[in-house]
Amino acid sequence: MASSLHSNNTQICPNPTALNGGSAADGNSQISKKPRLYADPPPLFIPSDIISEFSHHDPAVARINNGSFGCCPSSVLSAQNQLQLQWLRQPDDFYFNQLQPKIIQSRTIIKDIINADHVDEVSIVDNATTAAAIVLQQIAWGFAEGKFCRGDAAVMLHYAYGAVKKSVEAYVTRAGGYVIEVPLPFPVSSVDGIVKEFRQALRRGKQNGRKVRLAVIDHVTSMPTVVIPVKELVTICREEGVDQVFVDAAHGIGCVDVDMKQIGADFYTSNLHKWFFCPPSVAFLYCKKSTNNSDLHHPVVSHEYGNGLAIESAWIGTRDYSSYLVVPKVLEFINRFEGGIEGIKKRNHEYVVEMGQMLVKAWGTRLGCPPEMCSSMVMVGLPACFGISSDHDALELRTCLRDKFGVEVPIYYRPPKDGEEGGVVTGYARISYQVYNKVEDYYKFRDAINQLVDNAFTCASLPIS
Ligand SMILES: Cc1ncc(COP(=O)(O)O)c(C=O)c1O
Repeated sequence: MASSLHSNNTQICPNPTALNGGSAADGNSQISKKPRLYADPPPLFIPSDIISEFSHHDPAVARINNGSFGCCPSSVLSAQNQLQLQWLRQPDDFYFNQLQPKIIQSRTIIKDIINADHVDEVSIVDNATTAAAIVLQQIAWGFAEGKFCRGDAAVMLHYAYGAVKKSVEAYVTRAGGYVIEVPLPFPVSSVDGIVKEFRQALRRGKQNGRKVRLAVIDHVTSMPTVVIPVKELVTICREEGVDQVFVDAAHGIGCVDVDMKQIGADFYTSNLHKWFFCPPSVAFLYCKKSTNNSDLHHPVVSHEYGNGLAIESAWIGTRDYSSYLVVPKVLEFINRFEGGIEGIKKRNHEYVVEMGQMLVKAWGTRLGCPPEMCSSMVMVGLPACFGISSDHDALELRTCLRDKFGVEVPIYYRPPKDGEEGGVVTGYARISYQVYNKVEDYYKFRDAINQLVDNAFTCASLPIS
């Protein structure tokens, strides 16, 4: 079944004209005498278009790790290059007349996609790491300026992204905050365990009269990857009186449902270069208008300091802003897929689950979570006989797969729990599916692992020469 689905790459409408209407085939296009009010939408992609859009990808490599760095099609790269040339041709004109309107255009598109109330709620920044710094910096000022008491708490998931954890350390712990990590089970079998642990952590945060000033919640955790029930957790935060809720959705847009009104967080960031086809690097940071967030500033202070975060972020000194400006072109690209971004997201999810199930069947292992908790990424158990027993082993195996087998895939080490006997799966691969992937990419990965098993490979023998 997998091969029939993927060999033709059903991301692509097999008969583009049928869905877009107005072709010779349906009889509508017999030279109409009526004047055209609107230009026809561009036709849906056919398989060869997709191949051409990603022809800069190394054909020798099975790229099943879209989650780390995303991808950017060649039509968008060309548009970016045009913008760079416009800037270099006449910087004065670009700076004074073009840059800001173009950034507002990108922000407006994002505002509509994420269902925000107002374009002022949407700032464009470089990446999720920068967005986290913006949110956390004002927490540090809250402590420094006596708005918060020493020991007031911030809560985050144990599986928060490493760089974000470091930011919490730098901005919250160092400022006098008390940080509580929510332990999460992995493998995970349902959202119930997550909700229970989260509620308990908030209660711990409120012990001894402390206030919980901030909750940092991932929408899609990075490693191991699991979709977190953000809406439910935000509601719990409101019930428990948490001051501010920041959703780190570095993988959000194009990967999971991103609706600001439904989620209800104060702050929400998503990269646009991961699952939204922008070139590196660009992200949005949504800041709810009703939240008291007048003290939000870009960590890089420039001329626009004090004019509001969105304006500050649109000029942080001389640099290449072209990745911020290609959002309209990206939308054009996305709309050439059936169902636009929703269609892409849905199919990516279905395919990655199918590929994950194919792999665990081949290796006699299991998925890291049920399909409904996967996005366009899924954790796939690796054979226990590899003896993965540290983060270092996981990294070495990743390197080996890349260098020896041409497979790009991140590996996660999951320490055995107390009482777990030998034969337990301690290594999981995080596979992604994006529009350029083919079933052969996953077969290549399957066969590489099978070959290692046949060769009696164990991590103790790494690195393989
Ligand atoms: C959950 C999470 N947060 C933050 C980041 C950081 O994203 P960036 O490196 O684009 O800033 C990532 C990157 O993968 C992530 O997965």
